[in-house]
Amino acid sequence: MEHRKLGKSGLKVSELCLGTMTFGWTTDEKHSYEVLDTAFDAGINFIDTADIYSRWSPGNPGGVAETFIGKWMRGKPREQIVLATKVRGRMWDGANGEGLSRVHIIKACHDSLRRLQTDHIDLYQLHWADADTPLEETLRALDDLVHAGKVRYIGVSNYPAWQIAKALWLSDKHNLESVICAQPHYNLVWRAEYERELMALCAEEKIGVIPYSPLQGGFLTGKYRKGAPMPKGSRGEGNERMTRFVNDDRNMALLDAMEKIALEHGKTIPQVAIAWMLANHTVTSAIIGANTAAQLNDLLGAITFHLSADQKKSLDDLTAWQLA
Ligand SMILES: NC(=O)c1ccc[n+]([C@@H]2O[C@H](COP(=O)([O-])OP(=O)(O)OC[C@H]3O[C@@H](n4cnc5c(N)ncnc54)[C@H](OP(=O)(O)O)[C@@H]3O)[C@@H](O)[C@H]2O)c1
Repeated sequence: MEHRKLGKSGLKVSELCLGTMTFGWTTDEKHSYEVLDTAFDAGINFIDTADIYSRWSPGNPGGVAETFIGKWMRGKPREQIVLATKVRGRMWDGANGEGLSRVHIIKACHDSLRRLQTDHIDLYQLHWADADTPLEETLRALDDLVHAGKVRYIGVSNYPAWQIAKALWLSDKHNLESVICAQPHYNLVWRAEYERELMALCAEEKIGVIPYSPLQGGFLTGKYRKGAPMPKGSRGEGNERMTRFVNDDRNMALLDAMEKIALEHGKTIPQVAIAWMLANHTVTSAIIGANTAAQLNDLLGAITFHLSADQKKSLDDLTAWQLA
């Protein structure tokens, strides 16, 4: 496992980051610990979570993924883990139960620290933008948390390039802590959001890039095929977006090409999807998700080979229509 500097900072993170969005949703507590152990044993030192995970699953109040991670970390060397979480989503009732106001951020941070059973968060990320709160207020709250020793570094997720540029400018102007990384949605069937503007900004400003959903929630495993029933128990079952991906013939042609490349290397389709992402040199670490240790062990095979330049280009070309 390679470890890389995250953006301009001195923080070193593994080239694969373990995402935990399914903990308490499609991954129960026992399997969550198995996945965490497998990741840690493989050299993954970087864990991504969020306070809201997985609030959308029935009976889950939010905070469950953080709680599992907190329990798991009790038996682990904290200093060897780079723990990233996020703030923004609704976590309690009332007008300030969500958002990026000073009031919401400070309480949400303390709540996360309690669930995670730690005295600091290594990377605290704004989950998505809040049009109701001035960016300067948000940055000042984060700056205070850094100076209080509760947060080490700050980052953003789902932010468009112009808002990151504005955040960098405000931090510069007011001498506030600056964001070191961006967490965009990015993969072979979701290219435009990152590649159109954000990629150039991140390269120019040396912002670390930690894309999420490299398999598009499982679509880029090849297990969803046109005309075939959705695999039972998978995240795609009954999911409208997944149905749209499956019904697009361009995506089916892509999966065929990925399968061919996978066979050439003796690899799997999901490994090819992740290898494609890591072949983009603006990407620092890919945030992967797995429900079981077996799935994760498959994904770990993505870092043991490289796509040839021709293979990378063929996948770029097959998906270039997204950038038109
Ligand atoms: N910032 C944000 O707004 C945001 C949004 C989404 C995600 N994230 C982060 O990114 C992480 C990863 O996102 P993601 O879970 O959407 O990633 P993903 O890599 O696109 O999808 C992971 C899913 O693919 C399936 N899968 C994984 N390995 C497989 C294998 N070897 N064979 C077959 N199926 C396999 C599993 O679902 P099934 O078994 O159910 O098919 C798994 O839950 C999250 O945990 C979270 O930390 C952030």
